Amino acid sequence: KHWNLTNTDKTYSKQAMQEAAELLKNGYTVAFPTETVYGLGADATNEAAVAGIFQAKGRPQDNPLIAHVANKQQLIQLVMELSPYVENLIDAFTPGPLTFVLPSNGTCARNVTAGLSTIAVRIPDHPVAQQLLTNCAIPIAAPSANISGKPSPTVAGHVWNDLNGRIAGILDGGPTGVGLESTVIDCTQEIPVILRPGGVTKEQLEEVVGTVMMDPALADQKEQPKSPGMKYTHYSPEVPLWLVDGSAQGIQEMINQEQKRGLRIGILASVKTARVLKADEIIPLGETMREIAANLYEALRTFKQGEVDIIICEAFPEEGIGQAVMNRLKKAASTHLTL
Ligand code: TXA
Ligand code: MG
Repeated sequence: KHWNLTNTDKTYSKQAMQEAAELLKNGYTVAFPTETVYGLGADATNEAAVAGIFQAKGRPQDNPLIAHVANKQQLIQLVMELSPYVENLIDAFTPGPLTFVLPSNGTCARNVTAGLSTIAVRIPDHPVAQQLLTNCAIPIAAPSANISGKPSPTVAGHVWNDLNGRIAGILDGGPTGVGLESTVIDCTQEIPVILRPGGVTKEQLEEVVGTVMMDPALADQKEQPKSPGMKYTHYSPEVPLWLVDGSAQGIQEMINQEQKRGLRIGILASVKTARVLKADEIIPLGETMREIAANLYEALRTFKQGEVDIIICEAFPEEGIGQAVMNRLKKAASTHLTL
């Protein structure tokens, strides 16, 4: 079922929200928009319902899910006692694109946490997600609503392409805002550790709690990531992506060289760089890093097999939201080159 909430009157959307909540409460999977990406939801307290998420996505069983709740009171119901800095983070960044890894109190089904003693919880900041979670009044487990390994969905059409026929419904709330997943922060130790960079930046977090660490696995591929999901192939476009650190001129020389070998080249770059490049297909991602983040997944899905042979994407500075953009690009890339 596809409920379009973007272009409809209030009574109809109210009915759609209630139908979706009923399906979730009855153990079905429903996709819904959040401010980051679309999520595929199921009742987090129902093991069979949660199993439906893993099945629909083809997700590895050892990769735990995020429990979504409407507010702080509901978050507290899923975890052991909060330390003061966690309260400060919750007050500063929720609702919003920040996911807290905390000691679980066992309320959610075992397969939500993939057997870990911790649980990831988030309070999304999107009117549809908020309304849905309020209507259900249960925690909703929700990974990104894509087939495992593909870029996360930022419009309902991406969910439809990936999961049509495998899930009970999609609430279409139009394009998501942030466009990249939430920041996952481990709050089980004295100093918080970022396991996945995302919508809330390290700089923003440090303003509230002082020192914040990065999981060493984010910088070094040899380290074992603390977030199970970070070890898998991710965000893969249909054609190989080369992430290239270099000037526009250097990138142009590379394009020319590859075209001489007969390859058709797709380009992902900032508006500024895109303006000066010549290639077979060019997608300008945006002027600012926030725009680039918002447009990245849609762009990765645009390049189709048979139309271009490789995608060359320029590397961006790893600061602010650029940290999350580069984290996703490195995972999407088959090679990372420095000119
Ligand atoms: O923005 C988002 O976070 C989106 C929207 C739908 O809310 N959701 C999302 O979920 O990105 P997913 O499943 O694609 O990513 C969840 C990440 C994975 O890397 C997973 O391994 C990690 O969170 N995670 C979940 N529970 C964890 C835990 N207990 N300890 C460490 N990492 C955990
Ligand atoms: Mg995902």
